[in-house]
Amino acid sequence: MSELRTVILAAGKGTRMKSDVPKVLHLVLGKPIIQYVIDVAKAVGSLKNYVVLGHQADMVAAVVGKDCEYVNQTELLGTGDAVKRTKKLLKNFNGNVLILCGDTPLLDKKVVKQLVSLHNRKKAVCTFLTAVLDNPFGYGRIVRDKKGNAVAIHEHGDATSDERNIKEINVGVYCVRSKDLFAALDLVKLNAKKKELYLTDMVEYFAKKGMKVETVVTDDPDVGLGVNTREQLALAGLKLRDKIVQYWMEQGVTIMDPISTFIAPDVTIGKDTLIRPFTFIENNVKLGARCVVGPFVRFRPGTRIGNNVDIGNFTEVNNSSMGDGCFMKHFSYLGDAVLGKNVNIGAGTVTANFNGIKKNETKIGDGAFIGSDSILVAPVTVGKGALTGAGSVVTAGTKVPPGYAAIGVPARLRRRKTL
Ligand code: UD1
Ligand code: CA
Repeated sequence: MSELRTVILAAGKGTRMKSDVPKVLHLVLGKPIIQYVIDVAKAVGSLKNYVVLGHQADMVAAVVGKDCEYVNQTELLGTGDAVKRTKKLLKNFNGNVLILCGDTPLLDKKVVKQLVSLHNRKKAVCTFLTAVLDNPFGYGRIVRDKKGNAVAIHEHGDATSDERNIKEINVGVYCVRSKDLFAALDLVKLNAKKKELYLTDMVEYFAKKGMKVETVVTDDPDVGLGVNTREQLALAGLKLRDKIVQYWMEQGVTIMDPISTFIAPDVTIGKDTLIRPFTFIENNVKLGARCVVGPFVRFRPGTRIGNNVDIGNFTEVNNSSMGDGCFMKHFSYLGDAVLGKNVNIGAGTVTANFNGIKKNETKIGDGAFIGSDSILVAPVTVGKGALTGAGSVVTAGTKVPPGYAAIGVPARLRRRKTL
């Protein structure tokens, strides 16, 4: 297989978002749109990624970081021109260039992998992704010859009325031999109507020269769904939510109400966990097996939940870990807390983890019992098998020794009575 590098097109202004933030930095399920595209590029083995940006490159670079190289296209002279901006950077490169759009958060690594491997297997010069749509309005149409080979992509604006009846469209994902890509872009003419250089015109160029053009037809046209408006941003989030929920159900997780369950892309969940309605699981959360969660639970980033944990209604867990067999069944908040095994968190418990200046940690040992309505003002340590009384306020710096009880406001320590 030839080496693969990726060019991500993202110079479009995103005017319709009506935003001060570059379009590709808007979040879908907590993750910037462009990050989805970069993750796909990496997942299919791309070793270098170039992002073509029109403006606000610094803002994008600040979020995405050094994972990519950034290239400027200050004037929007078309998708072909955008790719041409990377010519210098790729001048000594002999492999394949994967071309993606920066605003497609539903892009799927499986289909891109399929595209790249077909491209290599067939030794094609150019392989691109198509889809068949009931309503192909606005997209580039795929023109095929009698043998069924793709010979051109005609943009909606340039298509004849016959061509407008073609339902097979260009999704906007291409794998092209680098040397031939830039040779073609040097020779392809500007589109007469728009005065833009169309990347899509390379297909006709290759076909006329008798070079091998291949296509992959996807049955999921959503993979190319571009986010141009806030409405599409919401739609992309909902579609991705459906996909992720579907995935976890296939892995053996019970999700009572897929429509009110939000699971971010970077989450893991163990088998036979039950998720009740209105549960919100953000990125970088690990949830164990056989847990019961919800309704109305929010897990925030950095949270680790063991196996057989029962987390009930109106609870939030933020950057905290709960060992196997813990209970927290009613309206509580854990932030920056580390819990051992079999801890019981009573209704209304709050870890006060932020003192206005910094976040502090709460540590709770195995088998501890936190009474209802306890406030643990971090930093606090509650030892193994220790207890806090209902309504107690455990003040900052307190270390409740194993087997002790902390009771009252402010809480005082005494040896725990054996029950
Ligand atoms: C393009 C394709 C069309 C395809 C459709 C799929 C061309 C000529 N047409 O059309 O066949 O069906 O995508 O969505 O390529 N961009 C730049 N610089 C530019 C112009 C565009 O970086 O000068 C970027 C945009 O930010 C965007 C991507 O390229 O991420 C696609 O551009 P867009 O204007 O949306 O192309 P379409 O006209 O929709
Ligand atoms: Ca578009």
